[in-house]
Amino acid sequence: MNKPLNGLLIGCGFFSRNHLHGWSDVEGAEIGAVCDLDPARAEAYAKEYSIPEFHVDASILKSGAFDFVDICTTMDTHEDLVALAVEAGVPVIVQKPFAPDIETCRRIQANAEAAGVRVMLHENFRFQNVFRRLRDILDSGEIGETTFARLSWRNDIDVYTNQPYLTKTKRFMIMDVGIHMIDLARFLMGNADAVTCLNQSVKEGIAGEDAATMLLRHDNAATSIIDVSYASHRTPSLFPQTLGEIEGRLGTVQILQGEVLRIHSNRTTRDEKVEDDGRSWTSEPWIQIQDSVPKTQQHFIDALRSGQAFETSAEDSLQTYSLAEAAYQSADTGKLIEISSLEEVD
Ligand SMILES: NC(=O)c1ccc[n+]([C@@H]2O[C@H](COP(=O)([O-])OP(=O)(O)OC[C@H]3O[C@@H](n4cnc5c(N)ncnc54)[C@H](O)[C@@H]3O)[C@@H](O)[C@H]2O)c1
Repeated sequence: MNKPLNGLLIGCGFFSRNHLHGWSDVEGAEIGAVCDLDPARAEAYAKEYSIPEFHVDASILKSGAFDFVDICTTMDTHEDLVALAVEAGVPVIVQKPFAPDIETCRRIQANAEAAGVRVMLHENFRFQNVFRRLRDILDSGEIGETTFARLSWRNDIDVYTNQPYLTKTKRFMIMDVGIHMIDLARFLMGNADAVTCLNQSVKEGIAGEDAATMLLRHDNAATSIIDVSYASHRTPSLFPQTLGEIEGRLGTVQILQGEVLRIHSNRTTRDEKVEDDGRSWTSEPWIQIQDSVPKTQQHFIDALRSGQAFETSAEDSLQTYSLAEAAYQSADTGKLIEISSLEEVD
């Protein structure tokens, strides 16, 4: 039996509670220390989650004690923290958003690649059970080659109380939730090479957009519409569900409320209710998201051990973040942005 890999978790804030719970459900890994700039937070999280050590300085990564690092801080800190891990030769799983713009994402990725240090984005939506099942249905060929997708995330959850920095984030909605949807669109529909986008700031007093509508052109000429909003008032709230549909040449799969997939093929229709795994620490309304965290972490550990590619490696994720960059450029210019035009900027 292999010894569990020993990890350092950096960032003891709002979302890292889910990471710490998640790691306790992962096979083959454990968190040996937590780190936060705020010593009281680091100490409190170490105590609450029975972690042996806490630190305030991330350069503890250079101690040689860690087999991996889990970075759960906001995007503005990722370049420096990943660079530190790269210098220490420690593999990284880093939360989305990767970085505020594509140039920074590219620098982080190139630096890690040059040093041969593996980096994966913690992109958990594609690891939700409902989307793994949907991927299986697409792979079965039941609805044929995909031609159209609509992925819709609309709710009015109060993100601002738990994550006050979001009110000041200039690139807000596309980076916060749109990035999950772009990754899902790529996971389900394949790569895309052009984007148009319109952004809206509905809530008053925030620095960025809180709603965005994107249109992606995929490599096989299929299209995806992605719409995301934190300003959509409905009862009951749809948070944290992604709804929509995928059409193929032979049928359609609808993604309905309550993690139900409705499959139309061969002139028949059937519903499949997809269940989340039961975990002692998950709670409404977050279950669907929380449940996907240990699945994302397990993929990281399994791929680290086996040497297989990460589904959302830093390199692969450059395509996701290029599409987000193109969406912002499109919203600014009112034009369709070809991804190839971003590459020419280098
Ligand atoms: N995947 C998801 O479903 C999901 C959901 C929510 C948040 N997130 C992401 O998680 C990330 C963290 O968000 P959050 O709301 O928990 O942030 P937060 O501000 O609550 O916590 C971040 C913590 O990191 C610490 N920190 C910052 N720089 C540090 C450094 N150099 N060394 C040590 N500690 C440092 C801060 O002191 C803070 O305690 C964000 O990128 C956010 O987008 C992801």
